[in-house]
Amino acid sequence: MSQHFQHDVLVIGSGAAGLSLALTLPDHLRIAVLSKGDLANGSTFWAQGGVAAVLDTADTVASHVEDTLNAGGGLCNEDAVRFTVEHSREAIQWLIDLGVPFTRDDPPVADGGFEFHLTREGGHSHRRIIHAADATGAAIFRTLLAQAQTRPNIELLEQRVAVDLITEPKLGLEGTRCLGAYVLDRSTGEVDTHSARFTVLACGGAAKVYLYTSNPDGACGDGIAMAWRSGCRVGNLEFNQFHPTCLYHPQAKSFLITEALRGEGAYLKLPNGERFMQRFDPRAELAPRDIVARAIDHEMKRLGADCVFLDISHQPEAFIKSHFPTVYERCLTFGIDITRQPIPVVPAAHYTCGGVLVDQHGSTDVPGLYAIGETSFTGLHGANRMASNSLLECFVYARSAAADIVTQLQDVAHPGALPAWDSSQVTDSDEDVIIAHNWDELRRFMWDYVGIVRTNKRLQRARHRVRLLLDEIDEFYSNYKVSRDLIELRNLAQVAELMIDSAMARKESRGLHFTLDYPDLLPEARDTVLVPPTFAG
Ligand code: FAD
Ligand code: SIN
Repeated sequence: MSQHFQHDVLVIGSGAAGLSLALTLPDHLRIAVLSKGDLANGSTFWAQGGVAAVLDTADTVASHVEDTLNAGGGLCNEDAVRFTVEHSREAIQWLIDLGVPFTRDDPPVADGGFEFHLTREGGHSHRRIIHAADATGAAIFRTLLAQAQTRPNIELLEQRVAVDLITEPKLGLEGTRCLGAYVLDRSTGEVDTHSARFTVLACGGAAKVYLYTSNPDGACGDGIAMAWRSGCRVGNLEFNQFHPTCLYHPQAKSFLITEALRGEGAYLKLPNGERFMQRFDPRAELAPRDIVARAIDHEMKRLGADCVFLDISHQPEAFIKSHFPTVYERCLTFGIDITRQPIPVVPAAHYTCGGVLVDQHGSTDVPGLYAIGETSFTGLHGANRMASNSLLECFVYARSAAADIVTQLQDVAHPGALPAWDSSQVTDSDEDVIIAHNWDELRRFMWDYVGIVRTNKRLQRARHRVRLLLDEIDEFYSNYKVSRDLIELRNLAQVAELMIDSAMARKESRGLHFTLDYPDLLPEARDTVLVPPTFAG
């Protein structure tokens, strides 16, 4: 039997964004935080390098803003950048106060100085990345989770997959408000109704749309697809960031080699040992990610090489082991001793720069619905996200969205009982092979046709194929009971179509979107905003 749950705030996602929002809301609110797997299954847990913020006395807000704008290829929203950077220090202080064990400076700094070690990554002109060795995400996640577990008003619900949002128009009611979500409980197989005064999408990104990705399995763009189907605009989905350095090894499933290695002096080398990045950008290994990933892609294609190499073996062994214990251990399991050998690396899909259009409070086009973290499109990243600005965005916008919800509490009543999910027309699937096949097909053609280098022809091919898949998936969805795989495939195909349409709409090369048919930059920088047929605004 399906159930009906009532919350003040329903948070879909238990990563940095979702947990931070839940922890910032007042204790008297009944908050549910959902995760579609275990609570740690999002990207947050895997974040390595750290969080960018203005922390050093020699650094300035103006400099962080300028670096972000430069990395963003002229497309960042300057207000969003300034807003985020101006709130960076207080967001980090909040994390420190919660007890996140960031790496301290060694030797300790003199009285009055900043006591934590700051590293550097691509695009940053200062050391401004605070980190917990090379496992920053795990340290932050554990701290946030431990805090959430002490709050009786926060209910943490694992293995719950949001299927779709419930909105007034979908129920045939007057108004445009979001009233909650239908959620598959994987332990019962039932789709429950979760009604809420406010609903927050904190579902992470969509890098799983590509065959090779640094992201965990759940990064399927669920939040973006659910918001689109509910009438929200989406923006800049053509900007898919490829991280330049993922471990290349047949048994390593997309393990990231943090950019902080390059920040601490690692060189990128061709198979013959020659450095090459200085041929592409004066900042060499510390150029922004779009430039480095494209350079690697170019060199691999030019030489017919399977990978390039990242070499930090010239740094002292003790330094490497203390700063990069995770990378060191992981590579060692594959027989690579990074204190002595270069690491074979390739680019892989890493981050979704676009997403659900929101304002400075994370409000979407649908009243009562917020989007924060990687799901959202705030304007911070422009055409290319600068390293370690993503976690920062999660914290700043989670806190801002929480503050906005508080201002509206008096005016928004609980929606009350809502209709249950109707599963009377569907049966158990006897053809799950179709789901598995479509997953593979989608991710492969996105990699081949909508990857680092694009052309009109490749994008047209991709569009043709995604439409066929969407028809097949729709038919499947109408006839069979939902499962996590089916829900994710439906969302991934939806987001893939939006990415392709966005890429086709951009008639220039800018930041992460590079097309051989329009290699130049247009004089005017414009966002690609797609408007859904059910636009709520
Ligand atoms: P996530 O942490 O991805 O969490 C998403 C949550 O949503 C999960 O709990 C998931 O279960 C839930 N969810 C999704 N769909 C549904 C659904 N339908 N129903 C219910 N729940 C759902 N950024 C940095 O700034 N610095 C770094 O050093 C850094 N390193 C990275 C390293 C790796 C390997 C990766 C993959 C990313 C890295 N990033 C880094 C990017 C950054 O980690 C992510 O952008 C950020 O963690 C996203 O946080 P989030 O809260 O938005 O989503
Ligand atoms: C990394 O550690 O290289 C990832 C940093 C990021 O994605 O911002």
